[in-house]
Amino acid sequence: MFTKLRNKFLILNMAMTSTVMTTAFLVIYLISYNNINSEITKKLNPQFGVQTIIGESELDDSTENGRPKILNRRFSADDTYSFIVQVDEHGEILNIDSPFNMQDEIYKKAVDIAWGNKHKNSAITLEGKQWRYSITQMKQHIIQENGQSYTVAENKYNIMFLDVTTYKETLFQLLMTLLSVGIVILVVLFFVSLYFANRVIQPIAEAWERQKQFVADASHELKTPISIINANYDVLLANKEETIESQLKWLDYIKIGTDRMTKLVNDLLSLAKMEDMRFEMQNIVFNISNMIHDVILSVEAVIAEKDIRFTSSIEPDIMVKSDPERIKQVIMILLDNALKYTDPKGQIDISLIPSKHHIVFSIKNTGKGIPEQDLPKIFDRFYRADPSRTYEIGSYGLGLSIAKTIIERLGGEIYAESVEKEYAKFTFTLAR
Ligand SMILES: Nc1ncnc2c1ncn2[C@@H]1O[C@H](COP(=O)(O)OP(=O)(O)OP(=O)(O)O)[C@@H](O)[C@H]1O
Ligand SMILES: [Mg+2]
Repeated sequence: MFTKLRNKFLILNMAMTSTVMTTAFLVIYLISYNNINSEITKKLNPQFGVQTIIGESELDDSTENGRPKILNRRFSADDTYSFIVQVDEHGEILNIDSPFNMQDEIYKKAVDIAWGNKHKNSAITLEGKQWRYSITQMKQHIIQENGQSYTVAENKYNIMFLDVTTYKETLFQLLMTLLSVGIVILVVLFFVSLYFANRVIQPIAEAWERQKQFVADASHELKTPISIINANYDVLLANKEETIESQLKWLDYIKIGTDRMTKLVNDLLSLAKMEDMRFEMQNIVFNISNMIHDVILSVEAVIAEKDIRFTSSIEPDIMVKSDPERIKQVIMILLDNALKYTDPKGQIDISLIPSKHHIVFSIKNTGKGIPEQDLPKIFDRFYRADPSRTYEIGSYGLGLSIAKTIIERLGGEIYAESVEKEYAKFTFTLAR
């Protein structure tokens, strides 16, 4: 179930990031493509087609012995990757202005292709290189002596060929770079996402497992009192004619069963309530010193019965701003444990120490203590260090988990220390 959830999370994450990345790369590529294209177009832009002549128009014949003569003037001075061929209206070559050492047939072939596709500003392949060309009609801009000027279109055309191989290569290189960077990013992203997906899923899976365990434990704990009640009820039924007085023993067992169930249900409700964030805790100022004295008073009989030595060091009139009901519940849970797990004639010490911003409450009892390996687990639900004593003393292992949930919700901290066979000490701190 969680693998599926993780995979979904992973797929979603990957899909989102790759879409964003592909879009970004596509935009980068398109911008570069556009820039290069406009640079090519700019270079092919025929500013050179106009010849300015002062005086009368003199259309010169630029052929030499029937062979095109090489023009000695470059029209596009900034560019050494182009050549220009001047042709007449039939596409016959008149002049060639070229820095390249190419044979006449090559120029002829280039002109033939270009002249054949007159209206297209398209690309051709020549001598293993890519060329773009543009055809412009030659014009003469004549300025007369009287200052008037006019433009005359000639029957000559300039075909400019621009070597765009490097541009194409640059674009191709950019595409390859983007692709490889994209693939590397995707691979890295996959592992990073996998790592985070696992990290995100892990606490959910753990919480789910805990919840499952909790339901199983709670049902299991409920089974015992229910079977006690059932068994004793059957005994009662089997002796219908007996008096209630003579059957009191069975009735007492039923009462123990219902009491245990009541405690368990109350504890479960308490836990559920504390874990429900919608359940609001109180936040009022109260005298915690008085409260602790009250709680101690309520267990004086048990202390006397077990012959426990009891000391308390509680500073008077310590005020705390928190939830008094819940704090009382925690103190009762801890005191109940101390009484339960102290051997007869043992000792319990309670202290309340205030500091400027905190109060520290601790309760220490002698006895078996808690084995070191159990210390981290005792705050878990249904955890008992010694399950064999469960029935005997009516423990469910819920007290400390309730205490921990309460203290944490109140923004405090609770922890246990113990030396086996000597003592166990529980401490909680709260902001004042
Ligand atoms: N003061 C203590 N001295 C020794 N062991 C303790 C003490 N307090 C708790 N423990 C150990 O920690 C376990 C968990 O305590 P917790 O209060 O959660 O449950 P419980 O007392 O067993 O049952 P419940 O409180 O639900 O009646 C106990 O079963 C016990 O083994
Ligand atoms: Mg307890």
